[in-house]
Formats: sequence, structure tokens, C-alpha cells
Amino acid sequence: MNNYHLTPSNLGYFVFNATDLPAWKTFLQDIIGLQVGSKSNNQALVLRIDSQEQRILIQQSDNDDLAAIGWELDSEESLDALAIHVESQGVDIQAADSDFCSTRAVEKAYICTDPNGVNHELYFGAAVAPMSESFKSSVMKGEFLAERFGAGHYVAIAEDKDDTNHFYRDVLCLRLSDYIRGEIAPGGPVLDATFMHTKTGRHHSAAFAALPFPKKLHHFMLQVEDMNDVGLACQRCKDADIPFFMELGHHPNDQMFSFYVATPGGFGLEIGWGGLIIEEGNWEVKTYSQPSDWGHQQGAH
Ligand SMILES: [Fe+2]
Repeated sequence: MNNYHLTPSNLGYFVFNATDLPAWKTFLQDIIGLQVGSKSNNQALVLRIDSQEQRILIQQSDNDDLAAIGWELDSEESLDALAIHVESQGVDIQAADSDFCSTRAVEKAYICTDPNGVNHELYFGAAVAPMSESFKSSVMKGEFLAERFGAGHYVAIAEDKDDTNHFYRDVLCLRLSDYIRGEIAPGGPVLDATFMHTKTGRHHSAAFAALPFPKKLHHFMLQVEDMNDVGLACQRCKDADIPFFMELGHHPNDQMFSFYVATPGGFGLEIGWGGLIIEEGNWEVKTYSQPSDWGHQQGAH
């Protein structure tokens, strides 16, 4: 099915449920280097990584997991067209009210739910912070790679590969990037992951795999522009005794140099540099046999 005209522009925001907002604030602001946004309060923590007012919303909850993914469309027309398409595929989709849109700092949104219980919020018109409040990290050397490429990527846990594949590709109209099918470590469990991209071409915005993991989300990824910021963040995590999922390493498919740590929510955060940007029409889908071509050793914790 070629629905490229309906494909979202980028993954614009993450929404997480959290039981411990202060722990998240320390982790993301002081250790990783994000900026706390002005709309934060004692029920919600808003974080910035670029010129937009919010890229991550962490809402006080009784659980710690992914709540929603925000997919940006460039115009109201393209947003409405995708919403009509989602409904035509037999998936229930609702228009969000203005109160909801203000919690997401967007003009207009629709909400639908995937086969794994994750909400997908399609939107346009994200709020931009005033020029006088340009993004500032208290600890990073450089900046995050975001703006038109969106917030980052995530890997979801998918129990039913076929249903999930159908939802991401035929309903949300994401584009196939590649696959990794192989042993995570020699003799260990086999990974079978599918990677998908949006129009602006970050190698993948979404991926899914059937991993033995007790969350809807395995990890989300934020990309930095200066390679030194991977090493510096890695060192800050070690100094703060943050548990590591995987040490520094390199992925063969998106060419990302990265490490993975446990967030206060129990799922992972990957900090990466060097991820490929896909040019549509000039991309060959491949299947890789290993998740990492070097490093990414499982954490000792
Ligand atoms: Fe990743």
C-alpha cells in the first residue's frame, strides 16, 4: 500500500506515565541535560530539547510506562486526511478537545490506540517557545538533534507482530526502514525487530519487537549533535550510579553510536549520535543479523 502522502512528518512528542516525578526531573534535567518547561506543575513534568515548548510530557500516575506517542502532520489538511484514513481502516479515532490539546501544546489532535494499548496522537500546530527562551541545557556541550526530525525514536513491545505491523504501516502510514533478526548475544534470545520511519527521514521513529520485557516500551532515544555529548552523558550516568541496560556500542542499521540506561520508569533511554537520515526514493530495505556490530554489552547492574 503506498500511502506516502499520508505519512506523518515526524514523531513530535512522548507522553509517559510516572509514579515519581521528582526522580524523573533529576534524571532528565541534571543527568541527561534536558530543560524543564514552564508548564510543569506537581502533576506533570514538561521537558524541552529544542525550540518547541514541549517534547516530553511526564504525567503523575499509578504506573510507569509509555502513555502516548505524538505524530506531527505539517498542516491541518494532512492531519484530517490521515484521521479519515485511520477510520477507513476500521480503527476507532476520536478528535481531542481543546483542554487536551493545551496539555499537549498543539492546535488540533486526534487519538487512536494500537493493538498493544499505546495511544497514538496525531496532531498539527506544535507550540514554539519565545525566542528569548531558546533551549538551554545545564550540562550538555552541544544540542539535541530534533526540530524538523522530531523528538527521537522508541522501541515498543509487540505481542502480535502481524497486527502491530499492520497498524504501523497500513493505519499510521509509517514507512518500512529495515529489520534486525538475530541473537541478541551469542546463544541468547533471538531479536526480531521491525524499524519504521516518517517523512523527515530519521532512520526510525518507531520500532517494535516481541521482547520479554514487562512494559509497553523497551526504550526511547534522544539524539545529540556532538558525539562528545554521548560520552559525557555516559559518564554522568555512571557517576550517578544509574543502572545500564547496555554499554557504549554501534547499531549496524541506523549507524547509531549509543548507550542505554534505565529511566526512573524502568524502561530504557538510549542516548545516541550519528543516526542515519533516510532519503525517500533512495532507500533499500535490508535485514540485519545482529543488533550491534560492536559494543552494547549488557549492563552489569
Ligand atoms: Fe534505539
